[in-house]
Amino acid sequence: MTSDFHRIKRLPPYVFEQVNKLKAEARARGDDIIDFGMGNPDMPTPEHIVAKLVETIRDPRTNRYSASKGIQGLRKAQAAYYARRFGVKLNPDTQVVATLGSKEGFANVAQAITAPGDVILVPNPTYPIHEFGFIMSGGVIRHLPAGTDSQFMTSLDKAMRHSVPKPSALVLNYPANPTANVASLDFYRDVVGFAKKHELLVLSDLAYAEIYFEGEPPPSILQIPGAMDIAVEFTTLSKTYAMPGWRVGFAVGNERLIHALTRVKSYLDYGAFTPIQVAAAAALNGPQDCIDDIRAIYRRRRDCLVDALTRAGWPIPSPPATMFAWAPIPDMFAHLGSLEFSKLLLEKAGVAVSPGVGFGEYGEGYVRIALVENEQRIRQAARNIRRFLSESAKTLHNVIPIASKANRSF
Ligand SMILES: Cc1ncc(COP(=O)(O)O)c(C=O)c1O
Repeated sequence: MTSDFHRIKRLPPYVFEQVNKLKAEARARGDDIIDFGMGNPDMPTPEHIVAKLVETIRDPRTNRYSASKGIQGLRKAQAAYYARRFGVKLNPDTQVVATLGSKEGFANVAQAITAPGDVILVPNPTYPIHEFGFIMSGGVIRHLPAGTDSQFMTSLDKAMRHSVPKPSALVLNYPANPTANVASLDFYRDVVGFAKKHELLVLSDLAYAEIYFEGEPPPSILQIPGAMDIAVEFTTLSKTYAMPGWRVGFAVGNERLIHALTRVKSYLDYGAFTPIQVAAAAALNGPQDCIDDIRAIYRRRRDCLVDALTRAGWPIPSPPATMFAWAPIPDMFAHLGSLEFSKLLLEKAGVAVSPGVGFGEYGEGYVRIALVENEQRIRQAARNIRRFLSESAKTLHNVIPIASKANRSF
């Protein structure tokens, strides 16, 4: 049985799988499910990027194994992006590596730097690879409840003082999946000062660098003087240019960490298909107004969702960034928990969301709603939810006796 393998045993059942299974069953019955579950961008990749792929793929020389750390043109394009967007100077040969999506890069950095039993500080709730990349590498996780900047710094300090052995790395993710929390430069300055003092490495996931709606664009931790000594940062084309299936991401920053990742990757892969890398470089070097268009689509969907759900009787906070709303479960369903509530929403309203507990224990009480359906579908979902909420007395009546019956029989 695969579950007997040491690493596999450390991976808990995927919470999202339970909702996915119900979703598949409902679809097989012919139900129309409005799917806000996975953060899987649905808009087309901009035409000029696709055109570059098609042009390059016709060159027969591009069929060969590519470069594991990314072709030089792509690493240069990423360095140019950091220079113009953040004012951060990177050496494309030693401080940039292209990855097969940022998820792969993150998992392989974890593998490269973790010895069995190393303690890693990870926010909670968070995107699962932040935790499981290290768990699969034999690390031990100490969770930091995601909260305001000062709460985070307090729990960081506490974790540092009370962990044995001393934590070796800290994960950050701003704008955050799933909470949509954003970080300021002042916050990054505090973290860098703390990390340097305690000899912590920092892995910063900046996947939503370009998906923001309020205030200043999200900063990079590498803007802080000295951050390059301890930090590596991950970005992706998946969200910025609507290219999730292309699998192009980057790790940039500290040379020692980039070297470790490059070395692990050199044993594992030959890099993305060259035409994909050439088209990815065209995305970074080409016209950038497509990013504004993509951001504007998410903004319209966000506004539509918040407005429609509020009018349906489920007011939710408006996310300042990312492609997710982090929604507290309506009071009358709070006792069910996020997984049961998500199942009910699917069954009774035909709407799929991600249960907050799937992102960690501190995500309980919330669901994540991904902005991956168009405005018409969002409004339809809100109408279904309004009906579901108004029939909820009956729904709860059906749920509660089952639970109490179960209690009686044990
Ligand atoms: C915070 C965060 N990091 C990384 C990723 C993975 O992105 P990629 O497609 O580059 O692997 C995602 C995808 O949803 C994400 O939300």
